[in-house]
Order: sequence, then structure tokens, then C-alpha cells
Amino acid sequence: MKPGRPWAEGPLLPPGWRPDREEPRDNSGDHDWVVVNPAGGVRLADGTTVALRPLGPGDGKILSAGFDRLSDRSRYRRFLSPVPRLTSSMLDFLTSVDGINHRAWGALIDEPAGPVGAGVIRWVRSRTDPAVADMAVTVIDDYQGRGLGALLQDVAIVDAFACGIERFEGIVLGENIASRRMLARGGARLRSEGDGMMAFTLELRPRMDRLRGSPISIVVATQNRRAELTA
Ligand SMILES: CC(C)(COP(=O)(O)OP(=O)(O)OC[C@H]1O[C@@H](n2cnc3c(N)ncnc32)[C@H](O)[C@@H]1OP(=O)(O)O)[C@@H](O)C(=O)NCCC(=O)NCCS
Repeated sequence: MKPGRPWAEGPLLPPGWRPDREEPRDNSGDHDWVVVNPAGGVRLADGTTVALRPLGPGDGKILSAGFDRLSDRSRYRRFLSPVPRLTSSMLDFLTSVDGINHRAWGALIDEPAGPVGAGVIRWVRSRTDPAVADMAVTVIDDYQGRGLGALLQDVAIVDAFACGIERFEGIVLGENIASRRMLARGGARLRSEGDGMMAFTLELRPRMDRLRGSPISIVVATQNRRAELTA
């Protein structure tokens, strides 16, 4: 069967997104299409190139620089309370990625002064149910509304599913429309928890069925392999 071009249309990538560069794996036209970009690069609809990679315990600087560029509103939406500064205990937690129960991915964008962590997504496995993880995502204000959150969500789905996670759960503010729409795009169900909060449940398998073999899956697999090899 001839492969389609999943990035050209349809739900495999958020609308407007496409891999940085793509080529058939060979000339027979009979194989999957692959993303040919060893740096994990994809391009935003507006042309900005984003490098996706798993974050490690040594990425504290990227995280705190990203935090510095978050508005008070974004901080509140992410942490569900006012967070005027990133404390060392918060940073300890955010960098405590162990690769198995706590994993994080960063979206890096080159700016004139150097690469900036434009977005980060993490999932943390539940202590009570190893097939469930809490998921949280942040995109810095300058890059919000360009499809980055939705892309990172798909990255986390592919990454977590490969680690045995079946479901993401979490809490968002009811007034956080961008977050709710991003979650809905991934197939999440939301329910009111009172006090302006909403709980979400996102089953990974249905979304995975659409992402399997997509350029995002290939980027995640490639970057995970690369991280393993360079560890
Ligand atoms: C929530 C967040 C991660 C979304 O990321 P993003 O890159 O801005 O969102 P995207 O561009 O991928 O858009 C996702 C959806 O939200 C919609 N959206 C984006 N910004 C929006 C806005 N300001 N108002 C309404 N809808 C918006 C998009 O249209 C899209 O919906 P669609 O697919 O139905 O068209 C980002 O806004 C953010 O980091 N906010 C602060 C922290 C936070 O709220 N984290 C989530 C809780 S853990």
C-alpha cells in the first residue's frame, strides 16, 4: 500500500505544522515516510523552526530562563497559584526527570541571543497506578497560540505511551481556554471540579492510533534514541 503524506492534511499533526524536511525512506514508494532531520526539527506554520528533545537533569538553566519569560498569568495557569519566582525546590522537582517515571520534553527555538526553551511538557507517573501520569505543559508567552502546545502534547503522548502510560490526568483552570482546546484536540474529557478548576482525562491509545507512524512519532523515537546514545 502506498503511504500517504500524513503531514499534508488530516489529524496527524496539528494544523499548520509540518516536519522541517521530509523524504521517502527509499525510492520504491512502498515504505513509510520519515522525517529527515537529526536535530528533531519541525517547523511552525509561521516558519519558525523548533527543535524537540527530551530534557535531562542538567537542563535547569533552560527551564529557569523560560520561567523568566512567562507572564504572571501564564505562571498562574501553569501552577494554579501565583508563582513570583522559581524556587530552588521547584527547580529541583522540574529537573528531577528520571527517564522512567518522570520525563520532560523541551521545544527549543533559536533566537539571536541563542536557543530559548519556548515550551516544555512533562509527565509524572502516578504512584498508585503505573499506567496513569499527571501531565503539564507550558509555552512561553511570546510563542503561545502558534500550535506549539498542541504539538508538545502529541510528543508527550507518543513518549509516554512507549513507557506504558495509558492515560494522562491533570487539573486546569476553567478559564484557560487555550489549554482546554489543546486538551480537547488530543481527545481529553474535562469535568468541573468546582472553584473554577477542571479535571481532565486523556486516554492515550485513541490519539496514538492516529499518531503511530507520523513524523512526530519518528522525531520522538529518534530523539529518545539519540539521548540514550549520548547519555
Ligand atoms: C495552554 C498552552 C500550553 C497552550 O499552548 P499554545 O501553544 O498557546 O496553544 P496552541 O497554539 O497549540 O493552541 C491549542 C488550542 O488552543 C487554542 N488557543 C490558543 N491560544 C488561544 C487563546 N489565547 N484563546 C483561545 N484559544 C486559544 C488554539 O486555537 C488551539 O485550539 P484549536 O486546535 O481548537 O484551534 C499555553 O497557552 C500555555 O503555556 N499557557 C500557560 C500555562 C498553561 O496554561 N498551561 C496549561 C496548564 S498545565
